[in-house]
Amino acid sequence: MAERRALITGITGQDGSYLAEFLLGQGYQVFGLARRRSTDSFDNIAHILDQIELITGDLADSSSLFRAMERAQPHEIYNLAAQSFVKSSWELPEMTGDVTGIGVTRLLESMRVVCPSARFYQASSSEMFGLSEECPQNEKTPFHPRSPYAVAKVYGHWSTVNYRESYGLFACCGILFNHESPRRGLEFVTRKVAHAVARIKLGLSDRLPLGNLDARRDWGFAGEYVVAMWRMLQQDEPEDFVIGTGEDYSVRDLVEAAFSYVDLDWQDYVTQDERFMRPAEVPRLLADCTRSQKRLEWNPQVRFQDLVEMMVQAELERLNNSKKPEDATI
Ligand code: NAP
Ligand code: GDD
Repeated sequence: MAERRALITGITGQDGSYLAEFLLGQGYQVFGLARRRSTDSFDNIAHILDQIELITGDLADSSSLFRAMERAQPHEIYNLAAQSFVKSSWELPEMTGDVTGIGVTRLLESMRVVCPSARFYQASSSEMFGLSEECPQNEKTPFHPRSPYAVAKVYGHWSTVNYRESYGLFACCGILFNHESPRRGLEFVTRKVAHAVARIKLGLSDRLPLGNLDARRDWGFAGEYVVAMWRMLQQDEPEDFVIGTGEDYSVRDLVEAAFSYVDLDWQDYVTQDERFMRPAEVPRLLADCTRSQKRLEWNPQVRFQDLVEMMVQAELERLNNSKKPEDATI
């Protein structure tokens, strides 16, 4: 079979790096859209930089997206780029709307003009369910977004559906629940907790300030979720799918599991800090994956406890190798 080409936006992020690895393993030629940066650190993709081609671009700049489509001539496009940290979206509401929301339309429009027969994946989010009255949530659950980020994701989601219905593009949305890994940004709660626990265990810190401990999330491993993205684009027809583990835990459960992995009692270190509370919280997200299990034959293997241990262990190793010993205060 002739080599297939994939274009990944957000390739420097957590999911982009795992997806690039996976697609390389499947024999794809991988192109990644990456923003111009002032330093040359590409931590998540450093190990595959010589196997991929980076194209400078930004979801806020249409001309760069047209050029990226023309350069890559992709068979598959994965739109993973976003201002993805929910808490920051209250501080950067317009930028989040522009990049995470309208950026999707810019990308779809460039695809429609340059390579309309490509297949398109949009990284939709369980945050769109927000203050949902239904639990668990599936593909038919109504959205009630609770942050500028979630509002922007709803816009991107419906833009993708609209381009599918208006122009017949093969465009799918993966409504993914929280997925984590050692490559997660330091500001997200799983990595923040794992990092702080490792620092405390190694005697580098003695505190962990957190926000709402009661919030519940359906947490899975990012390395498995990128396979579901790819499977969506291998279907005969474009459709949207919910992806998660079907199990939810509280932030308190997360903290307890992480500290107990290193034989410490979380109550000796964790404090509640107003700075990490949100203007509007999403109390509980839990996936009903009946449809994706059946149609995509996708079943995650990494459970919550495995994930927490993987992340704490990775932080211990990182710190023992003296890489990036910083305090998580974001
Ligand atoms: P992430 O680690 O924060 O990565 C975001 C990526 O977007 C980075 O590569 C970032 O580049 C890039 N980006 C940000 N603004 C951009 C812009 N203006 N133009 C071009 N690229 C830009 O996020 P992730 O966890 O991998 O998530 C991937 C996608 O899935 C995101 O759209 C996220 O909203 C969505 N999602 C994530 C989860 C989850 O639990 N992880 C769940 C549901 C949906 P820089 O390196 O230059 O910052
Ligand atoms: N980040 C953070 N820091 N979250 C905290 C803290 C803290 O100190 N304390 C409590 N939390 C709670 C948040 O209030 C939230 O309820 C939960 O922990 C998870 O927060 P995050 O890890 O920041 O993730 P998120 O659920 O807001 O968003 C992530 O998942 C979405 C999918 O549901 C991001 O990856 C989004 O991009 C993604 O769409």
